[in-house]
Amino acid sequence: MPADIIQTSASTSSKSADALIEIDGVGKTFTGQDGENIIALEDTDLKIGRGEFLSIVGPSGCGKSTLLNLVAGLLETTRGEIRIDGEQVNGPYTDLGFAFQSDLLLDWRTVLRNVLLQCDMRGMDSKQHTGRARKLLKSVGLEGFEDKRPFELSGGMRQRVALCRALLLDPPMLLMDEPFGALDALTREQMQSDLLDMWQETQKTVLFITHSISEAVYLSDRIVVMSARPGKVREIIDVDIDRPRDLSVRDSAEFGAIVHRVRLLFQEMGVIH
Ligand SMILES: Nc1ncnc2c1ncn2[C@@H]1O[C@H](COP(=O)(O)OP(=O)(O)OP(=O)(O)O)[C@@H](O)[C@H]1O
Ligand SMILES: [Mg+2]
Repeated sequence: MPADIIQTSASTSSKSADALIEIDGVGKTFTGQDGENIIALEDTDLKIGRGEFLSIVGPSGCGKSTLLNLVAGLLETTRGEIRIDGEQVNGPYTDLGFAFQSDLLLDWRTVLRNVLLQCDMRGMDSKQHTGRARKLLKSVGLEGFEDKRPFELSGGMRQRVALCRALLLDPPMLLMDEPFGALDALTREQMQSDLLDMWQETQKTVLFITHSISEAVYLSDRIVVMSARPGKVREIIDVDIDRPRDLSVRDSAEFGAIVHRVRLLFQEMGVIH
C-alpha cells in the first residue's frame, strides 16, 4: 500500500477548518413498532467545510440517510447537536437542496412543475423561476420534456429532474442521498461528470451518500467510511487527487489506491468478503 498516497484524518481537513456543517456528538435512536429501541447512529462527529465535497459510504442500514435527514432538520437528534453556519438546527432547514434516495416526483405535475415545486411549497412566485427551471432542464439534456409527466420518463431522466428541483433555488448546500443509484452505468458517469462541473463552478458544499466506492473517490475531497449498525464514523479518508478531474483519473494509481483502501475497510468490517 503506497502509504504516502493515502491520508486519513480524524475529522478535519484544510477545507473543513472553515466548517459550514458541524455534527457534534450526534446519536439517533428510533422506536420500533414493538416499542424497541433501534440505535441508528451513535457518537458521530463530523465537520463539513464550506465548499467541500464530502461523501459518505457505508453498509446498508448504517444510518446514512438518517444522518442526512438530521442535517436537514427533518429528524431530531437523540443526542448531540448539529450546527449549520454556527446555528443549531432545530427544525427543517430550508437553505439547502435535497436530492432524496427515491426521486419523489409527483406524477400529477409536469416535469417543469415538479422542478418548480419548491416555489409553490414556499409560497414564492414560480413565474420568476421558470426561466431558471427551463435552463436547468436543458443543462441535463431534458429540453423538450418540460410538459411531460414523470411516468413518461426513464429512471435516469426522473433522477435528473429531481436534481434540477434540488438546484432550483441555487442553495449553497446540497444533500444528496444516492442520487445516481437507479441510473445505468453510462448515464451515471455522465451525471457524475456534470455534477462535478457544476460543483467546480459554484463551489457549493455537498454532502453525498453513495454505495459506489469509485463514485465517492471520483467526486470527493474526503470520504467518510461508516461502520454497520449502529452507524459510526469508522474512518475519514482524504482524496488528494488534483482537480479539475476528468474520467481518465479513474485509471490512475492514486485513484486505485484509495478505492483499495476503502474496500479493505469494508472487508475488515465484514461487509464484503
Ligand atoms: N423512521 C424509522 N423508524 C424506525 N427505524 C428506522 C427509521 N428510519 C430508519 N430506521 C432504522 O435506522 C437504521 C438506519 O437507517 P437508514 O435509512 O439511515 O440507513 P442507510 O444507511 O441510509 O441504509 P441504505 O444504505 O439501505 O439506504 C436502519 O436500521 C433502519 O431500519
Ligand atoms: Mg439510505
